[in-house]
Amino acid sequence: MPTVAIIGGQWGDEGKGKIIDLLAENAQMVVRFSGGDNAGHTVINPLGEFRMHLIPSGIFYPGTVCIISNGVVINPAVLLSELDGLQKHGLDVSHLFVSDRAHLIMPYHTLLDGLEEQSRGQGAIGTTKKGIGPAYADKSARLGIRAGDLLDRDFFRQRLRSVLEYKNKILTKVYEAQPLSLDEVYEQYCQYGERLAPFIRETASMTHEALERGELVLLEGAQGTLLDLDFGTYPYVTSSSPLAGSACIGSGLGPTRIDSILGVFKAYNTRVGAGPMPTELTDETGDRIREHAHEYGTTTGRPRRCGWFDAVLARYSVRINGFTGIALTRLDILDILPRLNICTAYRIDGQTHSTPPSNSALLERSQPVYEEIPGWQSDTSHIRRFDDLPKKAQAYVRRIEELAGCPVAIISVGPAREQSIMVRPIL
Ligand code: GDP
Ligand code: IMO
Ligand code: MG
Repeated sequence: MPTVAIIGGQWGDEGKGKIIDLLAENAQMVVRFSGGDNAGHTVINPLGEFRMHLIPSGIFYPGTVCIISNGVVINPAVLLSELDGLQKHGLDVSHLFVSDRAHLIMPYHTLLDGLEEQSRGQGAIGTTKKGIGPAYADKSARLGIRAGDLLDRDFFRQRLRSVLEYKNKILTKVYEAQPLSLDEVYEQYCQYGERLAPFIRETASMTHEALERGELVLLEGAQGTLLDLDFGTYPYVTSSSPLAGSACIGSGLGPTRIDSILGVFKAYNTRVGAGPMPTELTDETGDRIREHAHEYGTTTGRPRRCGWFDAVLARYSVRINGFTGIALTRLDILDILPRLNICTAYRIDGQTHSTPPSNSALLERSQPVYEEIPGWQSDTSHIRRFDDLPKKAQAYVRRIEELAGCPVAIISVGPAREQSIMVRPIL
């Protein structure tokens, strides 16, 4: 003990990478427990600027063991290129380990992700087309191929043969696409397996042993609560669970082993991809935030939709995850605005709601009820103590705490590691 889970509180891209890089300084282990290379976690530290898709954001500390655990779906080509990138930078990656139970993204997953999106037409989800949905679907359908399978070539070939036969039927008969060659996919994945073999092992017991030694373990979330398969804005969600509860299953820890759950929230809201977003700003203010904050996706480069802080969704997120603290990021982005709004409730068909409806068509029709807060209009990016923030910025943070029902533990006022205000201990 102890274990701290770091979870996206909104629609992803809240700044989890920055917060994990900050907290990992004192951690002996960082475990990435869900999602795949749909994630893009930006880390800016004295070693440079990095965009991590699979490798935990703790990799920059040589003494911190980093694990890609069973809950993650891995595209081996992406993992290898990420490893190459870090090694070119002179970083040691020998403290990275990959769970033998993690499922692999196969070439048919990426192909099918694109074809399925195309066939959805107007109803497209706006996926990252990285094969995430098809890979998790195969995991549930018991058609998945796992990292550990690459270490046993006969078993791998046998498994691939039967799955590929079925996938080729779908590719050719449903989508009229070209089939994939068993030999080519097999050879390619055997090569990946050879390079990844030193990293692949049973990892849950490594985490248990770290906790038995009393080490600090961080559980790195990907995506965000509102993209959760059960509690997100279904069907405009990802195909895994980014929630705190999933940190247990995704890493092999029992729920009693998690001591603290930090929810990462932007000081406003963004969303990339389709689906309802009640506080979206389609006006000049939205454009101003997007350009000032450079709100473009880390993985796909798509413009992010920007909007006011939605406290209805924040409160929901706090409850569903059981957050014990909030890391509030990008407060500095709001420095430029003369006035701010926080959404405190929704009006739907003449009725006021304090929790979001599960039906995404109803959420689409939700009219936000706003509370106006004056802007502080001064630079906060150099501030390192809560008491040194402008009084109006302090009031904004306090109001978010009150409405969300959770204390703010960290405030981030810039992308760099040191641009952080520690408000209260996270443990
Ligand atoms: P993640 O997916 O949650 O790790 O977030 P992303 O890396 O996709 O997106 C967050 C973006 O905000 C990145 O470009 C970060 O460098 C940047 N960022 C993080 N915290 C802050 C902050 O407090 N202020 C500013 N201006 N940028 C931040
Ligand atoms: P990080 O970890 C923001 C979104 C996609 C799309 C939906 C489904 O960087 O916060 P998928 O490819 O997962 O099937 O796409 O989920 N999405 C993210 N949005 N940040 C992410 O990760 C995301 N991962 C997936 O844009 O709307
Ligand atoms: Mg991201």
